Amino acid sequence: MTFRTLDDADLQGRRALVRVDLNVPMEDGRVTDDTRLRAAVPTIDKLRKAGAKVVLLAHFDRPKGKVVPSMSLRPVVEPLSKVLGAPVAFADDCIGQKAREAVKAMKPGEILLLENVRFHAGEEANDRQFADALAANGDLYVNDAFSAAHRAHASTEALAHLLPAYAGEQMRLELNALDAALGHPERPVLGIVGGSKVSTKLDLLTHLVTKLDKLAIGGGMANTFLFAQGHDVGASYCEKELADTARDIIRLAGQNNCKLFLPIDIVVAEKLAPGAPARIREVGHVDEEERILDAGPATVERLCRAMDNSRTLIWNGPLGVFEMPPFDKGTVAAARHAAALAKAGKLVAVAGGGDTVAALNAAHVAGDFTFVSTAGGAFLEWMEGKALPGVAALAQ
Ligand code: 3PG
Repeated sequence: MTFRTLDDADLQGRRALVRVDLNVPMEDGRVTDDTRLRAAVPTIDKLRKAGAKVVLLAHFDRPKGKVVPSMSLRPVVEPLSKVLGAPVAFADDCIGQKAREAVKAMKPGEILLLENVRFHAGEEANDRQFADALAANGDLYVNDAFSAAHRAHASTEALAHLLPAYAGEQMRLELNALDAALGHPERPVLGIVGGSKVSTKLDLLTHLVTKLDKLAIGGGMANTFLFAQGHDVGASYCEKELADTARDIIRLAGQNNCKLFLPIDIVVAEKLAPGAPARIREVGHVDEEERILDAGPATVERLCRAMDNSRTLIWNGPLGVFEMPPFDKGTVAAARHAAALAKAGKLVAVAGGGDTVAALNAAHVAGDFTFVSTAGGAFLEWMEGKALPGVAALAQ
């Protein structure tokens, strides 16, 4: 796919409507992780330097087409202004008179954030009239919200057809990194898919075994695969009804020459509690009351060797209950190894998806990965091989 980028645009004095993702974690009105705010900076800076008027469109949470005061974007203004090192004005609505007047008052180089686009039902309905009302405040459209590109909404899809449309800097970074990891990767490519449920990652696993040379399955979902192979999983979380599906995925991997890595040893405990006494067991040797909560050291060691013998790694989902030590050990050790290889230039290591980023941050290694996506759902859908409407709409 080819996109128009900002390098192709005439920006001086023009109103750039920029879709960003400011859906940041917030507690008591304070932003607790500003990764997505920082990701928006390069595009905004570039536009300002070129003399554009930067009008930001974004959603926050899921207000479902109604004004929900606790889901206002106003609390984001100050932290955004801080990461940009520039003032950010705010308008209480993203369309209509309030938006129009605020945009009219702007000078080149200034930044204005418009209120939550999801306060209008037309946003999620991808409604043409609503998109027209948004477009009225811009001369051009920039989509920099890869992480919202799996939504066919007015500000991510329809708008791209109404104004000259460009991919922003973060969008470009994400697309390039994902292409390097799965589109046109250096081989061999190893995938790590963890997390608790096979049911939420069926499409992902089915697609990946046709694309990758090796796939390691970890986290709670590995229990379902172990069970499907006839191993006892004790009191572990396990989707027993998906045993046939797990066997289908194992078969499909074989047909596509994708080497599957399932745990060979595991860490078990009788309860999931911080510091709970943990034991290492070989696969299949789990007592009735024990729960599998992490990958064992031999499994992690084998995974690290698989990384050593790969050129590309794509990672989604933790290997254990990483939020609760000591069950973070497997994820942390594997993440550190991947980060060291990436830092030494031996491995292209790309990771994404909500929990994954939190796990890499907990291991203090996110900075050493080749690329860590800001996206949750969009990263998954892209890894599943699905077309993202927000990306497709930008294609020329
Ligand atoms: C995200 O947080 O993954 C994106 O901002 C999309 O949000 P949504 O899942 O509410 O559409």
